[in-house]
Amino acid sequence: MRTLIIYHTRSGMTERIGQEIGAELDSRNVETTIKRADAVNEQDFKDSDVWIFGSPVHFFGPSKASKRALSVALRVNNDGKFFTTFDTRYASYNGPGAAGKMANMLKDAGVKMITEPELFIVESSKGPLAKGEEIRASDFGKKIAQEMKF
Ligand SMILES: Cc1cc2nc3c(=O)[nH]c(=O)nc-3n(C[C@H](O)[C@H](O)[C@H](O)COP(=O)(O)O)c2cc1C
Repeated sequence: MRTLIIYHTRSGMTERIGQEIGAELDSRNVETTIKRADAVNEQDFKDSDVWIFGSPVHFFGPSKASKRALSVALRVNNDGKFFTTFDTRYASYNGPGAAGKMANMLKDAGVKMITEPELFIVESSKGPLAKGEEIRASDFGKKIAQEMKF
């Protein structure tokens, strides 16, 4: 199955997590493309089977660029498509955030969830990632790859 990782980032933290997930999928021979949320187009979504959306939490939800990417995805016929989401956020915040809200929008549109959203912690708005988060990102990649073996 072809996988597309779509991320937005301001300070590189969400990008870092996306790269770790992508590296793990690559190492398991899952065909993976990584694209910035502001560069993704309808064809990218048509050409992939599993969409992995990553966004920093901005004001309790997805960033503006992530919302744009999501709206592009939702214009595509999503029969047979799967998704999961992740976000980066403060440890002190425990609302649905970007990952939860993006997941709800995708679910409501009929896209099937391949595995539960995952959250990654930053120490301040510009990073760094909290200790161990890159390893957790690889683990998340592993989990996604395992779920692909239906
Ligand atoms: C405008 C703005 C709003 C933010 N709002 C939240 C928030 O509501 N909850 C939260 O946990 N973090 C919030 N943050 C912190 C971001 O989640 C943090 O900057 C992000 O995880 C860093 O990832 P990035 O390097 O990929 O941009 C906010 C950051 C910015 C810049």
